[in-house]
Amino acid sequence: MPLQRIDPKHYQAFQALLEEFCGIVLGPNKQYLVSSRLNKLMREYGLGSLGELVDRLNQPGNVELRGKVVDQMTTNETQWFRDEYPFSVLKNTIFPQFMDSGTRNVKIWSAACSTGQEPYSISMAIDEFRSSVSGGALFDGTIIGTDISPTVLEQAKNGIYQSSAISRGLSPERRNRFFERNGDGSWCVSKDIKSRVSFKNFNLLESYSLLGRFDIIFCRNVLIYFSSDLRAQIIGGMTRILNKGGYLVLGSSESLGIHSKSYEFVKYNAGVIYKLKDD
Ligand SMILES: C[S@@+](CC[C@H](N)C(=O)[O-])C[C@H]1O[C@@H](n2cnc3c(N)ncnc32)[C@H](O)[C@@H]1O
Repeated sequence: MPLQRIDPKHYQAFQALLEEFCGIVLGPNKQYLVSSRLNKLMREYGLGSLGELVDRLNQPGNVELRGKVVDQMTTNETQWFRDEYPFSVLKNTIFPQFMDSGTRNVKIWSAACSTGQEPYSISMAIDEFRSSVSGGALFDGTIIGTDISPTVLEQAKNGIYQSSAISRGLSPERRNRFFERNGDGSWCVSKDIKSRVSFKNFNLLESYSLLGRFDIIFCRNVLIYFSSDLRAQIIGGMTRILNKGGYLVLGSSESLGIHSKSYEFVKYNAGVIYKLKDD
């Protein structure tokens, strides 16, 4: 799809459809991104211009194509123990609090988990906590990782990573402790770490009522792609299913917006974590 063939009115129609499907707000000058990410898909579907794609997406029964477009347009960048501090705060402050208050199994949602590094890092943090305190074996967690993209979820479920992905954020000590080496040089997340984590295809624009309730929600580095109205809607939805005294962990450039009154700001050296107030 050469850039000169992107008609501004088709670009606007595509922006609106993408926001409707998954919340992503595409800036006004992202024609290059659209072109490079959708070229292959458009060839596969025999579509010659963005206008033809928009027409096809507007026809009924386009679920598969819609999913593939969203898959291509999402940014799946992630890494192990991203920003480090949320995971050390889990181990040093949050897990001890839950353990002291008698919670034996913390329920954690990793919303927009991409290829699984975030939920697996949480599971590793649980493991490290369990082995670092007396009576730690009595404490455990259940983690659900969700994402809109079936492609990244497939990799997350497999739990198999090439050396290049493994080296992003993971120390050799953690790699040797929590992974097994496959014959082809890739690394597989150990059974214990995997056993706490399940994955589900879920669009953050849907209702959260069937997900259950959580003690901790990680929603990191995804709200930045949405409008402020949608960010407020998503944080509102999460606030409703977070247990009182539970924690919400956002990305380092994301904030609570209009929901800040519902939370205590718990400041750590490297960043902030939000604790839902009891009242
Ligand atoms: C940049 S990654 C963040 C991964 C991880 N949370 C982290 O901080 O490393 C953003 C993820 O959000 C997912 N995503 C985008 N829009 C979504 C939506 N509407 N519902 C669920 N997931 C979405 C993308 O598929 C992508 O995997």
